[in-house]
Amino acid sequence: MNICLLGRQPKLCVAELEMRYGADAIHHVGDDFALVDANVDIDTLGGTVKVARPLTELDTTNPQKVFDYCRRELPNHAAKRPEGKIKLGVSLHGFDMPVAKINANVLSLKKAIKKTGRSVRAVPNTAAALSSAQTLHNNLTGDMGIELVFVHAGNKTLLGQVSGVQNIDAFAARDQARPKTDAFVGMLPPKLALMMINLSGITFAFSPTEFSETASRLTSVERSSASDRAADVPENSLASGSTATTPARVTSGGERKRILDPFCGTGVVLQEAALIGFDVYGTDLSEKMVDYSTANMKWLADKFGVDVDVNIHHGDAIETKWQLPIDAAVAETYLGQPFSAPPAPDKLAQVQRICNEIISKFLENIGTQVEKGTPFCLAVPAWRDKSGRFTHLPLVETLGKLGYHQVQLRHAKIDDLLYYREDQVVARQLLILRKD
Ligand SMILES: C[S@@+](CC[C@H](N)C(=O)[O-])C[C@H]1O[C@@H](n2cnc3c(N)ncnc32)[C@H](O)[C@@H]1O
Repeated sequence: MNICLLGRQPKLCVAELEMRYGADAIHHVGDDFALVDANVDIDTLGGTVKVARPLTELDTTNPQKVFDYCRRELPNHAAKRPEGKIKLGVSLHGFDMPVAKINANVLSLKKAIKKTGRSVRAVPNTAAALSSAQTLHNNLTGDMGIELVFVHAGNKTLLGQVSGVQNIDAFAARDQARPKTDAFVGMLPPKLALMMINLSGITFAFSPTEFSETASRLTSVERSSASDRAADVPENSLASGSTATTPARVTSGGERKRILDPFCGTGVVLQEAALIGFDVYGTDLSEKMVDYSTANMKWLADKFGVDVDVNIHHGDAIETKWQLPIDAAVAETYLGQPFSAPPAPDKLAQVQRICNEIISKFLENIGTQVEKGTPFCLAVPAWRDKSGRFTHLPLVETLGKLGYHQVQLRHAKIDDLLYYREDQVVARQLLILRKD
């Protein structure tokens, strides 16, 4: 069992976990965490920000009592660390304890370890939970790190230890360093692109020998190895042995699967898919975007040694005949013009009509070319008004007529699949589709 700590839009993150590991693997969903019985590979997830191994379950929901328990048990746990300075952090999820009190408790844990002759540095909290940046930059998942997590699950507390953290530096580095970007076409965050690939439901196959290859492509900051992490499990651990980071590779039956992005723009989806080992195929109406995606993929190959098949060419999504195979289509489609404030009703109706027409025609076109059951994850526009209500594309209600159905999720609702920041008018509605 793993404790997955979820990012900014937790319901989307749960949906990603469900599509990736199956609904049965998800045992409990809290406000910002999920308990997942699978080999969770944080390097290939967009929405999960940390993964922790459960150490024990306590019959209390009083965080002070959990700290008291840790004060008794932690020195033994710390004694098993190699020589050197231990770095200690604590993250609370679902508890209401003032930050000052958390910090006082963390200091008392530090003192308890110090009494045993070990030197310790505590990472101060500025919120109930440490940020991914704090976990990553203090290397709390490394040999000398211990980040405890308290998770409020029903009438118990699950005590865990963080074993993996999302490499936000690597995401930011490839977002900012790629040679071609275009603010007008849009800025699909790489994390969201990765979530969309997982949300499509395209299946991953695993091969242990290829793990280090994948991980080294994805990480720019040193991490502890999976075996180092396994050694962190204390004797009183509840960990089942199924928690080591999963090796990931996207081969199936010996063949790599290929993801199409028919609105590829600058190629963020292509980049993220290639990094986790998919062959990629991108098309776009704009020659400039074809050049941009091509340049960005070349940069990716040079920088990260990615050696997947890449095919990028010009194409209007409403009439292109794509080369097969297409194992999944993942795309941020045409979102219409950007708005910094909600548009007037007639303007909104006009943009909505244009987007609806392009995306409907694209679905009709590709529907004649791909096999029944082909997975899709498409980001389509939905516009937020000042009261937070959304105007959706009419096609969302007529997918059956277009020859598709939406995948129903057990742990999230279809309406939860909206990605936006509070200041954004144009939200991305994520449609998880199957060709009928
Ligand atoms: C929101 S952007 C996608 C940005 C992309 N996710 C990226 O990583 O840069 C939509 C893209 O769709 C393209 N587009 C618009 N209409 C199209 C059509 N009919 N066929 C193919 N591409 C189209 C635009 O040129 C633009 O690059």
